[in-house]
Amino acid sequence: MYKLPKNFTFGIAESDLQTVGSSFPIQYENASSTMWDDFTKKLKKDTPNKGSFKYNNIKEDISLINNLGVKAYRTSISMTRVIGKDGKPNKKALKWYRNYLSSLKKKNIQIHLCLYHWEAPNKFIEEGILHKDFHNYFLQHTNIVLEYLADLVDYYLPINELWCICYLAYYVGIHAPGYTDINRFFQSYFASITLQRDVILQIKESQPKSKIGIVNIHFPTYIRQNSDKKSYVEAQTIADEITNYIYSDPFYIGRMPQETIKRFKKYFPKDYKDIVSNCKLGDEIDYYGVNYYNGQYVKPSKNSIGFELDEDEIFMKNSLGWPILIPPESPPGLTDILHTYSQRYAQHGMKKIIVSENGTPAFTNESEIPQDNERIYYIDQHLKQIEKAIQKGVKVEGYFLWTLLDNYEWQEGYKPESAFGIVQVDRKTGKRTKKKSYYWYQSQLQSFYR
Ligand code: BGC
Repeated sequence: MYKLPKNFTFGIAESDLQTVGSSFPIQYENASSTMWDDFTKKLKKDTPNKGSFKYNNIKEDISLINNLGVKAYRTSISMTRVIGKDGKPNKKALKWYRNYLSSLKKKNIQIHLCLYHWEAPNKFIEEGILHKDFHNYFLQHTNIVLEYLADLVDYYLPINELWCICYLAYYVGIHAPGYTDINRFFQSYFASITLQRDVILQIKESQPKSKIGIVNIHFPTYIRQNSDKKSYVEAQTIADEITNYIYSDPFYIGRMPQETIKRFKKYFPKDYKDIVSNCKLGDEIDYYGVNYYNGQYVKPSKNSIGFELDEDEIFMKNSLGWPILIPPESPPGLTDILHTYSQRYAQHGMKKIIVSENGTPAFTNESEIPQDNERIYYIDQHLKQIEKAIQKGVKVEGYFLWTLLDNYEWQEGYKPESAFGIVQVDRKTGKRTKKKSYYWYQSQLQSFYR
């Protein structure tokens, strides 16, 4: 049994496009296709297509979620479905969402609804969030959700992971729309923090009692041991700022971290200080969501951003090759990031933290109960790291396991080693089979809530 506060909420997290896919909504609701469909088609990779076949399997999925014993469920709502091709609310899609979410609500499961888990319509493929109409389109989407579904939503999460939609999409190029351009990266950064600010204000203006969480992915950042070289310490500082703090400082402190300003100011708009200070909205944010999978070791680099990953220091990797940080061989990555974050914003109105995603991919064979012991080990170790953070005084009040079903893992598609679910999904038929980790998580929740 974990030593966690009584009010600790255990949940499970999913997203719309990864589970519902794009082809069913296109067929049954006349929804638009997504930017990810064309982006991956062009690269000859797996497209979102059928996802985890959720569209026609919600009855079974509701039982899977309910029987698991979670108190909260997180998913997203796709603007490709909510806004019809005629620009009006798509009633068929809204009915589907109402049916799905209200069945979960009836089981006393809280709904944390993300308004954007990267489901941009394909008409934005050229520029993504930098397209001149994207901002207003998003606000229209938000309005429709507020009008049709507000009674079902406990928490709104405006945008999932600014780092992915800025850094991966405009600097690394592996997420749609796929640029590798530092200038565009900073443009997307300022566009997305402004958008997140406006969405929060719109929600609060229209329904002042609504609750809001903001959700970012974070990577505790380290350098190799015994490296006191100035260049390594500098690389660590800049990597930490670019992967972590630039996405949260504006919302709690109203400014950007110093080293980023010093190095990259030439890419900023003239009024950047106003843009950033206008984002300071700590009072409106009910929780800070930390999505956590792994940490990063970095070293100096001559590339335009000033750091790169230091692969030599990695001790343990998951099936996708991501560095897993578990003591004693590695530092406790999740404890570290929770602690650093709570200290950084303690004086700036951060109310509480929720681990809004955590999990690991693992390859499993077909069998009656697919065995995924490495996933159980990973989750157990990370819950222990949360316990440690709480012992250090961090106010962590919830944990969302990522994820229920084997789903569409973005640029990794449907590869067996990219299966994150505690329920196996047959990629051809959608048939669901509970893995060992499903039963394990269920038994942990049973003893916690007993
Ligand atoms: C994203 C999920 C994704 C998971 C594993 C998170 O950053 O929110 O959509 O499946 O990481 O890669």
